[in-house]
Amino acid sequence: MRIEFAAPQLPEAGTLVVLAPLGGTLGASAAEVDRRAGGAVSRAVQTAGETFKRGQAIELLYPAGLGLERVVVLALGKPEEAKPFDLEALGGSLVLKLKALRVGEARVAVDAVPGLAVGPGQLAAALASGACLRSYRFDKYRTQKTEDDEPSGEVAGLTFLLAEPEAAGTAWLAAEAVVRGVDHTRDLVSEPANVLSPESFADECRKLGDDLGLAVEILDPAALQALGMRALLAVSQGSAREPRVAVLRWQGGAKDAPPVALIGKGVCFDSGGLSIKPAAGMEEMKWDMGGAGAVFGAMEAIARRRARANVVGVLGLTENMPSGTAQRPGDVITAMSGLTIEVVNTDAEGRLVLADVLHYAKEHLKPKVMIDLATLTGAVIVALGHEQAGLFTADEELAARLVAAGEAVGERLWRMPLGDAYAKHIKSEIADIKNVGRAREAGATAGAVFLQRFVGEIPWAHLDIAGVAWSQQDLPLAGKGATGFGVRLLNRLIADHYEN
Ligand code: BES
Ligand code: MN
Ligand code: ZN
Repeated sequence: MRIEFAAPQLPEAGTLVVLAPLGGTLGASAAEVDRRAGGAVSRAVQTAGETFKRGQAIELLYPAGLGLERVVVLALGKPEEAKPFDLEALGGSLVLKLKALRVGEARVAVDAVPGLAVGPGQLAAALASGACLRSYRFDKYRTQKTEDDEPSGEVAGLTFLLAEPEAAGTAWLAAEAVVRGVDHTRDLVSEPANVLSPESFADECRKLGDDLGLAVEILDPAALQALGMRALLAVSQGSAREPRVAVLRWQGGAKDAPPVALIGKGVCFDSGGLSIKPAAGMEEMKWDMGGAGAVFGAMEAIARRRARANVVGVLGLTENMPSGTAQRPGDVITAMSGLTIEVVNTDAEGRLVLADVLHYAKEHLKPKVMIDLATLTGAVIVALGHEQAGLFTADEELAARLVAAGEAVGERLWRMPLGDAYAKHIKSEIADIKNVGRAREAGATAGAVFLQRFVGEIPWAHLDIAGVAWSQQDLPLAGKGATGFGVRLLNRLIADHYEN
């Protein structure tokens, strides 16, 4: 979608969107439109009354006194109550409304709104961000578009009219970087596993590095062997496709400052391995690389907006397949850290992959903090549904920062427990630990305490995003499908706490 910012001038034709706060007075340009149209805007707002909730819209066709085809009055709600995420969601509502009206191009008048936490520049950038995110579609495999799939009302461009278009342009530069990251993550997560393999995902990482100036290192099976990543290799050994570990570095901070490490589970397809999953729903396991996808998109966002921070993304890329070479239930493996693991269930593979990637990050990157994202357990969906991701950390400060970042961007996290009582659940009779806990007991925490054994003393958080990486429902900023969950959250966290 084309996004532009221009000085406020009442257009002579086409569609104009004006914002109306609930209970407040109209902004300068909305008031001007209202005056010329003989009070049509304020009457419409009055008629809608208290029910004119944020995101709702009223369409005025050919209002008298204006050359315009259409004025869309968009409800802003109570300005005092609007959080940053609500403004992006408003952009999402706007684009859906325009689509429904079959409007391809519109101008949006953005005034200063008393009581709103941000000025017109930030407001316009937030609306643009929400509009772009909500209009994402993954349609590269649709060769025959029907009118139903592709209503003629795709919104091609929005021009925001405001007093300081340059300020909006600057805010948009950073916001657009994040939108591009989210959309790229959605593309990767949507790709079927026959197209997105560990190797092709690694190629995407290399391409990203070339495009944006990230230093990218790809570890192939020989390198993984040499490093002793036997847990990750054990998962991949049943697949005809080779695993990779991708390391993406953004060095935007002080030369020797330790980086923030972002770690992603990148299981490009999870059949369960020999502990094979039921056929129903197995196709969903193409998105078992959603954690790695989110880290990829966050690295893209951070690099595109040239964040002043050192951030390293580490992606553990593999498939989990059954075959004559696959690992067996009961196998005992020695992870890179030296810890031995009894593999009771080959479907608990994500934690095996992350065990080695976390240990690698700890030893080779010396990060000040590590955050892993993984579609790790079905149990987290039982606990939290598709509304929030599970957050596991022993670090209070990191917990508070992550929860706040999640609230700000509408990617919410709910803290769940770690602790010694749960660590007992993964004791093994034969090895140091086993890769499953107790049946139907605290399954998401069992995964988390397993990971915790590989992070040492480094402040660490684990986000179990199994319930939120993909949506069967339309969301404020996404249609059905890949959500890109995590990209905006990680970007917000870095911007708020790790940039100087
Ligand atoms: N990738 C799955 C988790 C998952 C399940 C994500 C459903 C999204 C939807 C993970 O590898 C897995 O299979 N976990 C097992 C662990 C169990 C065997 C201890 C699970 O949750 O069933
Ligand atoms: Mn699995
Ligand atoms: Zn998995």
